[in-house]
Amino acid sequence: MKNKVIFGNWKMNGTNADIKAFLKTVDKKAKNDKVIAGLAVPFTALETAIKKAKNIKIAAENVHWAENGAYTGEVSIPMLQELGVEYVVIGHSERREMFGETDEAVNKKALALLKAGMVPILCCGETLETYENKKTNKFVSDQIKKGFKDISAEDAKKVIIAYEPIWAIGTGKTATPEIAQDVCATIRETLGKVYNKTIAKEIAIQYGGSVKPANIKDLMKQKDIDGALVGGASLIAEDYLELINYNK
Ligand code: 13P
Repeated sequence: MKNKVIFGNWKMNGTNADIKAFLKTVDKKAKNDKVIAGLAVPFTALETAIKKAKNIKIAAENVHWAENGAYTGEVSIPMLQELGVEYVVIGHSERREMFGETDEAVNKKALALLKAGMVPILCCGETLETYENKKTNKFVSDQIKKGFKDISAEDAKKVIIAYEPIWAIGTGKTATPEIAQDVCATIRETLGKVYNKTIAKEIAIQYGGSVKPANIKDLMKQKDIDGALVGGASLIAEDYLELINYNK
């Protein structure tokens, strides 16, 4: 069995002082042979986080695909690399919904990150309306096809996918393990068609949306769920530790 990949996503939370205090409590307890533990933090906290984290992988929450240029307010890949960042969340539904990030932009970001030797955590997921209209599987499968456009098979294996149904984010409504498994299986099937089954098996697929210590075990038991991307619960040191050590 491959290692589970469990990342927190702090979103727009956490000053440098907060992340420092958090990592002081959790980092030494984050050693786990079966889990790759990570945390996505705001740009301003990356440098502190990288310095303080020994066992936890630190991720950025966004990036621009261009190396530099007139893009006020954006952050480039070389800027992240200078800090030692290796993982970057792209296409989070909050960025898609509130900041107009498209599948095409997500694809450009993924290609640029892979070219730079970094790991994209590529998010996908449907709205409540799409879910209620029973169009989830087609919708998510399209997001994956567009997100992976022009990505070579060799590079595809390095991508982490985060399936996060928008209706389950921050709402306390977790997709049942069965629903989450069903969509993650569809994602793997789509990857199998775009690449092949062997490559599809190697790609880690996380589930995200109201994951907490109480439901992580059942989610992680699912065949096609290889990890989790956790918002709210990852802000609480005790919960974060329970999540990344769910197998202990
Ligand atoms: P919650 O865990 O707060 O529902 O957030 C999920 C998420 O968006 C992680 O990226």
